[in-house]
Amino acid sequence: MNFIEITRNELIGINSIDEQHQSMALLVNKLYDKILSADRKMIKNYLYKLLEIVEVHFENEENLMRSTKFSGYISHKLEHDRFYKQMLTSTDRFSKGLETIEIEQLKGIRQWFFNHLEMSDKKCGKYFIENGIS
Ligand SMILES: [Fe+2]
Ligand SMILES: [Fe+2]
Repeated sequence: MNFIEITRNELIGINSIDEQHQSMALLVNKLYDKILSADRKMIKNYLYKLLEIVEVHFENEENLMRSTKFSGYISHKLEHDRFYKQMLTSTDRFSKGLETIEIEQLKGIRQWFFNHLEMSDKKCGKYFIENGIS
């Protein structure tokens, strides 16, 4: 059983978004393994990779929200910005040796991911589909 499992329930029906969610889950699962084996070099590596894909993914959703004039754009973007800033801070602190990354923090990321997907991504996903995006 993976640390994060994307099941049919987590799919929102927009290919690019679903694929990016899968990639994010895959990276978090790799991160989980490296935290268990306390491999600092690879943890750092995966943290920066995760940040990169999170940034691309948030931009993708935000561009779609803007181009379809989705009314929930501002609050959705705020959730993205807060999460990204937090991850960036932890990653930088980790790479400077000021912070460790524990499974508990990864559980926090997982929690955020599923909450955000359920409460926000599904909402805009439904709207995108209604607006002819697939
Ligand atoms: Fe989102
Ligand atoms: Fe998302």
